[in-house]
Amino acid sequence: MEKDYYKYQAQTSPYPLGMQVSRASGSYIYDTNGQAHLDFVAGVSACSLGHCHPKVVKAITQQAQQYMHVMVYGEYIQAPAVAYAKYLASLLPKTLEVTYLVNSGTEAIEGALKLARRFTGRSEILAAKNAYHGNTMGSLSLMGLEERKASFRPLIPDVGYIQFNSEEDLKYITTKTAAVILETIQGGAGFIEPNNNYLEKVRKKCTAVGALLILDEIQPGFGRTGKLFAFEHYNCVPDILVMGKGMASGLPVGAFTASQEIMATLMNPKMGHITTFGGNPVIAAAALATLKEITESQLMAQSLEKEILFKSLLVHPLIKEIRGKGLMLALLMKNDQIANELVLKAKAEGLILFWLLFENRAVRITPPLTISEREIKEGCTKILKILDALNGQTVN
Ligand SMILES: Cc1ncc(COP(=O)(O)O)c(C=O)c1O
Repeated sequence: MEKDYYKYQAQTSPYPLGMQVSRASGSYIYDTNGQAHLDFVAGVSACSLGHCHPKVVKAITQQAQQYMHVMVYGEYIQAPAVAYAKYLASLLPKTLEVTYLVNSGTEAIEGALKLARRFTGRSEILAAKNAYHGNTMGSLSLMGLEERKASFRPLIPDVGYIQFNSEEDLKYITTKTAAVILETIQGGAGFIEPNNNYLEKVRKKCTAVGALLILDEIQPGFGRTGKLFAFEHYNCVPDILVMGKGMASGLPVGAFTASQEIMATLMNPKMGHITTFGGNPVIAAAALATLKEITESQLMAQSLEKEILFKSLLVHPLIKEIRGKGLMLALLMKNDQIANELVLKAKAEGLILFWLLFENRAVRITPPLTISEREIKEGCTKILKILDALNGQTVN
């Protein structure tokens, strides 16, 4: 299997972690040698309820036995997608009422960009330096890191960049701007939170010049930071909310949500944004089961208690800082070599950790929201043991 994996499945990294998966359940993934791996990554913030949560599995199974794909997006009335959109609206501010379901985060970003251009009649999009919004051409055009996109030029025109958290840069938001797009908490850049009421200020400036504010909650959304969406921490409601990842606890999905007025422009031109599988009933059923579990349990509140537990346990001279909120945490190590060693050595110890895209000193801790106190202690003990050994080797 391993040989075939390298030969037939396209590789994007010269050094994939390469674990051969047998099954997964709760906070653990089991490899084909029978070893259990405690998952502190959750498929990169996707498996919000852990692996194969019984309520999600039940929803998928029931829906798969009734009907699966029957028609392209938006033509037929399919209960799981309608029920999902309605329930989501009941949890969001009034202006975020109408949802378009797609297949991935990046596709939701594409939809949001098109919507902003169409609604405002303007073309300029402002994104943040070091932003990550996905890998299709539109999302890639927003990435503020030239080395990762140079090979793909020309990208979409009329994209500019502002520094996240810079009040000074708000002057670049003008009456030419169709939209400002920001991750509510910057992920790949190093789990950087907005400070000094930054998002409120961006919101105010966007409103003043008639630009739309798009918040990318693909990573922090769905309870990961202790609220259903992270924007709730910062007193700032976007015009378009983009989500994905943890939405269906492990199935491929994305969505963007806006007001009736903004979303109505999706019909102009007719079928201006279409997708075959968006709103797929099996995936919508999984998303609904996930959302109900997150909102009807104590998981959101507990993610803040678990943050405190992680921070109290992970005290070590090689950890310089712990960034992030709730269960979207990043350990900032003394240097990138230590970060690298920690991820690789943890793998050998049966603990799954992972890097961040642009911040090489960081190690992500984004476990399932369902992780238990015992599991947190088990994983943190392993991290400290590895760091003690690295400290003994005086890694500089
Ligand atoms: C903030 C953010 N935006 C967009 C994306 C892209 O989502 P997807 O990989 O589902 O296309 C990601 C994925 O890592 C993300 O973290």
